Amino acid sequence: MYKRPFHNVDLGRYKFLVTGGAGFIGSNIVEYLLKYKAGKVIALDNLSTGFRQNIIPFLSHDNFEFVEGDINRFETCAGVCRDVDFVMHQAALGSVPRSVKDPLSTNKANVTGFINMLFAAKECRVRRFIYASSSSVYGDSPELPKAENVMGDPLSPYAVSKRVDELYAGVFARVYGMEITGLRYFNIFGPRQSPSGPYAAAIPLFMFAALKNENPVIYGDGEQSRDFTFVENAVEANIKALFTKNRDTSAQIFNVAVGHQTTVNELFNIIRSVAGSNIEAQYREERPGDIKHSLADISLAKTMLGYNPAVSIKEGLDITFKWFKNQYAANVNN
Ligand SMILES: NC(=O)c1ccc[n+]([C@@H]2O[C@H](COP(=O)([O-])OP(=O)(O)OC[C@H]3O[C@@H](n4cnc5c(N)ncnc54)[C@H](O)[C@@H]3O)[C@@H](O)[C@H]2O)c1
Repeated sequence: MYKRPFHNVDLGRYKFLVTGGAGFIGSNIVEYLLKYKAGKVIALDNLSTGFRQNIIPFLSHDNFEFVEGDINRFETCAGVCRDVDFVMHQAALGSVPRSVKDPLSTNKANVTGFINMLFAAKECRVRRFIYASSSSVYGDSPELPKAENVMGDPLSPYAVSKRVDELYAGVFARVYGMEITGLRYFNIFGPRQSPSGPYAAAIPLFMFAALKNENPVIYGDGEQSRDFTFVENAVEANIKALFTKNRDTSAQIFNVAVGHQTTVNELFNIIRSVAGSNIEAQYREERPGDIKHSLADISLAKTMLGYNPAVSIKEGLDITFKWFKNQYAANVNN
């Protein structure tokens, strides 16, 4: 992965903070930054849904530091932001169903934690703050593809939390003159995405089911669609948002996806063929809060950030399955 760099500056000159750095997307960003010799990378994570295992390969780097801490504590946020040039804020409690079951925890991490990080970054005068938003903010808007300026009403507490983040980010950019860019991720997948727990995403669940020869659950009829996006493309968006020379990108929000629509049934069939498996899906009632169709218009990120997602869903699923297969074999042999 990351065979080509997405930046053309010397990363060695800068100090980066990746919150949620022991999580799926955060650890992939850390991997990229270390591969291209960033001056210093700090990962802040409370390990609530992330794993120490995800950062073990980085601990041998002299320029990597892991801080186990909570973004709900302002002092922790201010401490890790000291002398940092760039913040990539990924820490949050993901999952629509989790937020329906436990909206208070989602709000605490995703809204209180978010404003703590923003204010800490402002106090420490960081150069640029990039944060993870979500396609869930499009809510009940039937518009397809989803363009950044056409939103409906949110369908879950998770979607509300991400929309509130975007509103705070806009206000901090205007009131304090901060450079802040939001990235609305659309169903990101790849190595290190967790297949465990009740809120695991479909791709790691299907892959693990194929490895264990079990029949996974599909909620609804499987005809719901998503713009599944390999994590390397999401890392590209983060790096391009950090180093763009386009000043108009401050206070902007961009869709991060590939711009292709795949139904869950199609996805399941691709995974079966990648895995050489003939498992069958068990269909269950659809879950509240889930949107039916999702497809991104990525033209804004293309023109303003130079974002050019190069990894297709099939290629990404191949890489991801190989990774899960190795993990599975290592666990079985231990
Ligand atoms: N994966 C996707 O498809 C997707 C889609 C849309 C948006 N997002 C957003 O992208 C970001 C990263 O998601 P991910 O898929 O890597 O999830 P993840 O759960 O793997 O990573 C989130 C990390 O944040 C950490 N964290 C949670 N609460 C924290 C707290 N209070 N203090 C410190 N650390 C905390 C977790 O331990 C975890 O390591 C999140 O903001 C998520 O909402 C992800």
